[in-house]
Amino acid sequence: MRTPIIAGNWKMNKNPQETQEFLEAIKGKLPESGVEAIIGAPAIDLNALTWFSKDEPLKTAAENCYFEDAGAFTGETSPKALSDMGLDYVIIGHSERRQYFAETDEDINKKAHAILKNNMLPIICCGETLEQRESGKAEEWVTGQIENAVKGISDDDLAKSVVAYEPIWAIGTGKTATADQAQEMVHVIREKIASLYDADTADKVRILYGGSVKPANVKELMSKEDIDGGLVGGASMDPESFLALANFQK
Ligand code: 13P
Repeated sequence: MRTPIIAGNWKMNKNPQETQEFLEAIKGKLPESGVEAIIGAPAIDLNALTWFSKDEPLKTAAENCYFEDAGAFTGETSPKALSDMGLDYVIIGHSERRQYFAETDEDINKKAHAILKNNMLPIICCGETLEQRESGKAEEWVTGQIENAVKGISDDDLAKSVVAYEPIWAIGTGKTATADQAQEMVHVIREKIASLYDADTADKVRILYGGSVKPANVKELMSKEDIDGGLVGGASMDPESFLALANFQK
């Protein structure tokens, strides 16, 4: 049984004060069980999140990290420091990082290893452009991204990890993939994992859909067999909306 995940990705939004205000607004209102609620926030906001998560049913995610634990890497964030701080997850390979910061599959694979070594779990993002979808290359592209991201990761580690399928054409556009389109690709990803590992590992890994998820469409997406949750940008930034998503089973 895979526990559903509702994960916010605030991207480069909110300062520590705004983070505090958000946390005060959701305090005591997150589901105690049945759903894992996660917030992914900018590095400067993570301290507030990890303190909050000590008493509340919220897991925490960084939006990126480097693959070395320490050293002369000006401006980077250490996965070891994130782990020491109490972070649970790190989002890696988001399409915005691939597109604007030239992050490669090889970087993402190194980061996945560094995160797992530091006792956190990666949320590995993948997704195709509209052009790739329209030319029939989406499945090949997405499964290739996953194959490269998980190289050398053990079956036990992958089973605990999270994958997020985010079609680039649905991110921040208001254009959600239909629940059937999302299910179809998430199923393809699970089959790919079964072929790279085995059916048991594929059955355990949680695969999220991301791209214009909001309270109005979360139920339908979550009703699909292979979709285990949502990675949510815009709709995760307002406390009421995040609570409505996290409480989608009610
Ligand atoms: P939106 O929910 O704003 O479309 O963003 C999706 C996303 O990129 C989450 O990582």
